[in-house]
Amino acid sequence: MSELARKNIAGIKQYIPGKPIEEVARELGIKGEIVKLASNENPLGTSPKALEALKKAIKGTHLYPDDEYFHLVRAIANRHGVEPECVMIANGSVEALDFITKAYVNPGDEVVMSEQAFALYRIVVAIMDGKRIATPLKNYAHDLDAMAAKITPKTKVVFIANPNNPTGTMSTSSELDKFMNAIPREPLVVLDEAYREYITRKDYPDSFKYLREGRNVMILGTFSKIYGLAGLRIGYAVSKPELVAPLRKVKMPFHVNSFAQAAALAAISDDEHIIRSREVNDAGKKYLYAELKKLGVSFVPTEANFIYIDVGHDCDKVFHQLLLRGVIVRPMKPYDFPTGLRVTIGTREQNEKFAKALKGALATFA
Ligand SMILES: Cc1ncc(COP(=O)(O)O)c(C=O)c1O
Repeated sequence: MSELARKNIAGIKQYIPGKPIEEVARELGIKGEIVKLASNENPLGTSPKALEALKKAIKGTHLYPDDEYFHLVRAIANRHGVEPECVMIANGSVEALDFITKAYVNPGDEVVMSEQAFALYRIVVAIMDGKRIATPLKNYAHDLDAMAAKITPKTKVVFIANPNNPTGTMSTSSELDKFMNAIPREPLVVLDEAYREYITRKDYPDSFKYLREGRNVMILGTFSKIYGLAGLRIGYAVSKPELVAPLRKVKMPFHVNSFAQAAALAAISDDEHIIRSREVNDAGKKYLYAELKKLGVSFVPTEANFIYIDVGHDCDKVFHQLLLRGVIVRPMKPYDFPTGLRVTIGTREQNEKFAKALKGALATFA
């Protein structure tokens, strides 16, 4: 790397995304069908209503997008019972993470997160030369007591993914209440709810309640997961207007394209697609739990659309064996889980292919 780059950039480990299907097919010369269960996308695809909206939007390709996202902001505000000024749209929720650290983290400011939290948190903090303060997970879930204890006057931001990626565990409403009561009001608590729509448990927190109470929380949502729009890149942040305002200052103009806006607007009201996606996920979860138990592989019960499993062998090797069998999953070494794999819950057919491939992959270690 060139010495001209800012010093802290050299220390950043680049984010490794799930491999695209074409790349794997090319690399390994695989001719048959490849199943990608690596990036927690919706296996049912995009909402049909969103696809219709996209077709219409294409006519406006020569025009710049609406930089105030008028309609989408109102639809999201409506859904969450907040005012439009509380909503900021982003080019994927990762862009919202980037805006948050750009707007809030000075060099040396502390940012609290779990050791094994979504990988981008660490990166956006490092870009700003902030100080990452990480606490170990407890039973694969955020240890909110430990996180609260790390908050000092130097803490600017706290990142909590709920459910957590890569473990799929959920912080309950009473656990989050306890955390919010334990901490001083000063830091910005970011509640990243990328998988919120998959949750069926009654004890999932209503995080908008903290906003109504005037707390410094920022809630993130995405259209990449249950809404099936990962390829368009669109997500959002909801907070108090004065906390959202700094985010608007660090954004580039027209950062969210018109197709993403049009598709998201249609997808948000496609309840049928959301319900069906949740049902397929719940059924897939039950099927995979049963198959993993049969194989004697331990896993962490999930509240999201992916399962963290401990394969008991070097995860890169098992990942490779799965690739050879046409299944892409995510090895967990970048999260310091040397024997962990994360698999997205797919359709019944995809899950069957994965279960069969895993059996074959594990047999090579016997
Ligand atoms: C917890 C969490 N937050 C945010 C994201 C980013 O999603 P987006 O596609 O909206 O950038 C992901 C994606 O995997 C995630 O797991």
